[in-house]
Parts: sequence; structure tokens; C-alpha cells
Amino acid sequence: MRKLLLTTMCFAVALMFSSVAYGFHDEGVARCSGCHTMHNSQNGVPVDTVPAHVNGNQDLLIRSTPSDVCLTCHITKHGKVLAGTVLAPPTLYGAGNFVFLLEDNLYDGRSGTVPGDAAGHNLVAPGNGLAADLTISGSFGPGGTYPKSAMGCSSCHDPHGNTSFRMLYGIGHVQAGNANFTAAAPLADGIDIEAATGESNTNHTAYKSGMSAWCGNCHGNYHNEANGRLEHPSGHSLGGEIAGNYDLYNGTAHLISGSHATAYLAAVSFEDPANTTTSTAGPTASSQVSCITCHRAHATSAPDAGRWDFNVTFLSEDGVTSSSYPIPSPYGPDVKIQRSLCNKCHVKDAGDLGSAP
Ligand code: HEC
Ligand code: HEC
Ligand code: HEC
Ligand code: HEC
Ligand code: HEC
Ligand code: HEC
Repeated sequence: MRKLLLTTMCFAVALMFSSVAYGFHDEGVARCSGCHTMHNSQNGVPVDTVPAHVNGNQDLLIRSTPSDVCLTCHITKHGKVLAGTVLAPPTLYGAGNFVFLLEDNLYDGRSGTVPGDAAGHNLVAPGNGLAADLTISGSFGPGGTYPKSAMGCSSCHDPHGNTSFRMLYGIGHVQAGNANFTAAAPLADGIDIEAATGESNTNHTAYKSGMSAWCGNCHGNYHNEANGRLEHPSGHSLGGEIAGNYDLYNGTAHLISGSHATAYLAAVSFEDPANTTTSTAGPTASSQVSCITCHRAHATSAPDAGRWDFNVTFLSEDGVTSSSYPIPSPYGPDVKIQRSLCNKCHVKDAGDLGSAP
């Protein structure tokens, strides 16, 4: 019955779109055959030969898992989410790159190794050599009840499209992981993922509101005191003093030479309804520190999907011990004295000039 319905709907939609050139998703449900196959057969040859698919043909998908389906188009195009190599990642558009999940070591702290598993969200995508997380203890994501075994593109993005920022799920049921989101999709505007130029301080996701609550759909209010973890506020106003620090801070070498009009640092983002994809202004007292201030949504070459490596004293140490890709310092590769970007808001590197490695 479901097969029949699906075929009929596909046919109707194919007719609707046949004479018009649209992008693939167009903020709505795309051509069904981009992702579904009715019999796992085309010209008498299986569309996908991964055993799990041949045996299961989950949701009549063209690949054995939702993420493998999305990756048929998104690896090297339309955001390039798993392209390049661990040492030469593709253009950064905002979310960071899943290629870092393939790293053998990300850790540049004192001793030990941290595998690529910890680079960010682990996709269940066996067709692309990726599997569920093995390093985080327990069956669920930290702070919540979302199963690690169900993590994939369609855990966060609605495969049938919607009008939210990047088609992220809002309130309601999410089939993958059988989850119920209670917080709406964040309000934000993204940059053009087809453009050759990616994220910079003048071309960046405009984070407006709601990101912390959205991540909280799966992580709860992570990092709060009751959880006994790093007690850092998220979804919380900066206040005048911290907003002022952010404006003036222009690197360890220039603690007070910045100005409000040009203070925006894509590497240390904040949420504000006034942000645009080209805005360069720093925050106001009511702008918010958010999960996305410190983390990226997909993965990075630092543990815990850090926007910068949280384990190094000087950004110039990133990648040195681990041989992983060094996240570019926003103050340039030659500024060896640049300390952690927590200082953009907290200026704890005052007086540290001259103590570089
Ligand atoms: C961009 C890829 C994509 C496109 C295009 C797409 N689907 Fe899907 N569809 C999926 C994925 C992935 C799942 C499995 C969802 C999951 O596990 O989260 C799914 C699941 C389904 C399901 C079963 C679950 C449910 O939601 O009831 C139906 C029915 C379905 N799709 C119908 C359609 C129809 C009809 C079209 C065309 C109008 C379509 N799909 C277009 C990716 C897609
Ligand atoms: C048949 C190729 C194809 C498949 C399969 C596909 N996409 Fe896309 N996707 C595109 C193209 C082309 C674009 C850019 C134009 C557009 O938005 O339609 C895009 C854009 C996107 C965007 C950015 C949208 C925005 O608002 O800027 C997201 C997010 C996305 N896809 C997620 C997914 C997910 C999740 C899946 C799997 C469920 C998937 N795609 C499967 C072709 C595809
Ligand atoms: C659909 C549920 C879901 C959403 C939404 C979600 N996460 Fe996660 N997250 C998980 C799960 C499950 C894990 C553990 C398994 C893994 O790493 O994939 C995880 C792991 C993480 C990790 C640790 C990665 C590692 O391997 O050490 C960080 C950091 C993280 N999430 C941050 C975020 C941030 C920031 C957001 C919002 C932009 C977010 N998450 C949104 C489910 C989710
Ligand atoms: C944990 C949730 C989560 C998962 C899993 C996830 N995404 Fe995303 N994705 C996001 C968020 C949030 C953004 C917006 C990031 C930003 O602008 O900071 C995003 C952005 C994007 C973009 C825009 C380009 C960019 O790099 O910002 C594309 C395309 C995309 N995702 C596709 C995918 C595909 C394909 C998969 C699976 C291979 C996937 N996503 C898995 C949450 C997720
Ligand atoms: C001020 C920066 C900052 C903010 C804001 C922040 N985090 Fe973190 N996060 C970190 C650091 C640093 C770590 C590394 C572990 C630690 O120090 O606790 C981390 C680790 C994590 C981990 C991995 C834990 C593990 O066991 O591997 C998850 C999950 C996570 N954060 C989720 C979130 C979510 C969800 C939000 C928003 C509600 C958020 N973070 C906001 C800095 C931040
Ligand atoms: C975008 C600005 C911003 C960034 C970046 C930032 N913080 Fe904060 N931090 C805040 C705000 C806002 C508060 C709350 C201040 C208050 O309530 O007075 C805070 C509070 C704190 C506190 C005090 C917590 C408490 O409960 O009293 C510590 C410690 C801290 N931050 C450490 C860090 C570390 C470590 C990093 C880097 C991993 C970091 N911060 C990055 C904005 C930021």
C-alpha cells in the first residue's frame, strides 16, 4: 500500500516539476526519485548493493541509510560536507566538515590521543565508511536521549524539506531516532553553498536566535550547573561588559584596538536578530552566547566539534602534536602568541604578550 502511494505521489510531483528548472529541494519536497527507488532496480541492475539495503530497502531509499542517500549529492557539491581529505578540507560554509571524522588523532593537548570519532556528529553511513559513535559512553548523545545509533543527516535536516533555516527540523516528531523535538528550528540565514568563497568575517551564517534551544532538543541545556559539566551559559545575554570586551578585542597582540563596527569574528559567533550574512558589527548587551559560539554543527578538526581547539594554549599549537588540520587562526598564521578564542569575550590574555612558545 505504501509502495503504491509513494509511486503515485512521485508521478504527480514529477509531472508538476517537469517543465521548470528548480534547485533540488527548493525549500520543499524534491523529486522523489532523487532519494527513493521503488524496487532497488534500474535497467535491471540494483541501485544499491550494500547488503543491508538489499535485505531491508529501508523506506525504499536509493541507498541503505538516509545519510548515504544525502551524500550521493552532497559529498563534493552543494556544501561539500564530506569532501577533500583530513588535511585539505573543502570550503567552509558554516557547519564544518564531516571529513574530520576520518582523522586518527585530533588531540594537541599534553599527552594522549583523541580519535576522529570525537570531531563531531558521527553519521551512520556505511556506504561512505562512517559508523555510529564509539567514544562517548552510553547509548545516547550527551545530556539527552537521542540514540547514537540513529545519527545521520535526517536527524537534523528534514529530508522532505521545509522552510526552516537549512531545512532543520522544528517542533514535532523526527522519524530518525524516533525523537520528539520540543524547540523550534533556529532563526538564521546561511551563505550561498554553491559559491566558491566560503565563510569569512564578512560572509558568514547570520545566527539570529534559537540555536541553543534547538541543540537542546537532543542535548538538554548542556553545560549547565546541574549537569555538573563546564558551567557555561548558552542562550544567555552577553551583558554590556562582555559585549564591550568582544568589540575591543582584536587578538592577544591587540587587546583594545578593535571597534564595534568591525568586531564580528566568524570564528566566535553570537546570536543577534540584527546579524546579517555580511554584518561586521560586534554584539550588543542583549546578543547571546550560544552553543554555536564554541561549536560547529557538523564536525571540525578539533575534539568536540570546537570552532577552535579548546586544548591548546596558543592557537599556533593546533595540529602540531596530532598532525591534524590546524584550524586557521582568525588573526593569521604568523601570530604565534594568539591564545584561546575564549578571550574574545573574557580577555584573560591581558598581560600575556611575549610569553609565546
Ligand atoms: C532528499 C531526499 C528525499 C526526497 C527527495 C524524498 N524523500 Fe522520502 N524519505 C527520505 C528519507 C531519508 C527517508 C527516511 C527518513 C528518516 O529515516 O528520517 C524518507 C522516508 C519517506 C517515507 C516513509 C516515512 C514517512 O515519512 O512516512 C515516505 C512515505 C516518503 N519518504 C515519501 C516520499 C515522497 C512521496 C517523495 C516525493 C514527493 C519523497 N519521499 C522525496 C528522503 C527523501
Ligand atoms: C539529487 C541530489 C540531492 C540529494 C539526494 C540531496 N540533496 Fe540536498 N541539495 C541538493 C542541491 C542541488 C542543493 C542546493 C539547491 C537547493 O537548495 O535545492 C541542496 C541543498 C541542501 C541543503 C541547503 C538548503 C538551504 O536552505 O540552503 C541542505 C541542508 C540539504 N540539501 C540537505 C540534504 C539532506 C539532509 C539530504 C538527504 C535526506 C539531501 N540534501 C539530499 C541536492 C541533493
Ligand atoms: C538529533 C539530535 C541532535 C541534535 C539536534 C544535536 N546533537 Fe549533538 N549529538 C547528538 C548525539 C546522539 C551525539 C553523540 C553521538 C555522536 O557524536 O554522533 C552528539 C554529540 C555531540 C557532541 C560531541 C561530539 C563528540 O564526538 O565528542 C557535540 C560537541 C555536540 N553534539 C554538539 C551539538 C551542537 C552544538 C548542536 C546544535 C548545533 C547539536 N549537538 C545538535 C545528537 C544531537
Ligand atoms: C547534528 C545536526 C546535523 C547533522 C547530523 C547534519 N547537519 Fe547539516 N547542518 C546542521 C546545521 C545546524 C547547519 C547550519 C550550520 C551553520 O550555519 O552554522 C547545517 C548546515 C548544512 C548545510 C549547509 C552548508 C554548511 O556547511 O553550512 C548542508 C548542505 C548540510 N548541512 C547538509 C547535511 C548533510 C548532507 C548531512 C549528512 C551527511 C548533514 N547536514 C548532517 C545540522 C546538522
Ligand atoms: C563557551 C563555549 C561553549 C559553549 C557556549 C558551549 N560549549 Fe559545549 N563544549 C565546550 C568545551 C570547551 C567542551 C569540551 C569539554 C569541556 O570542557 O567540558 C565542550 C563539550 C561539549 C560536548 C561533548 C561532551 C563529551 O562528553 O564529549 C557536548 C555534547 C557539548 N559541548 C554540547 C554543547 C551544547 C549543546 C551547547 C549549547 C547548549 C554547548 N555545548 C555550548 C564549550 C562550549
Ligand atoms: C561570546 C562570548 C563568550 C565566549 C566566546 C566565551 N564566553 Fe564564557 N561567558 C560568557 C558570558 C555571557 C558569561 C556569563 C557572564 C555572567 O553571567 O556574568 C560567561 C561566563 C563564563 C564563566 C563563568 C561561569 C559561571 O557560571 O560563573 C567562565 C568560567 C567562562 N565563561 C569560561 C569560558 C571559556 C573557558 C570559554 C572558551 C571555551 C568561554 N567562556 C567563551 C560569554 C562568553
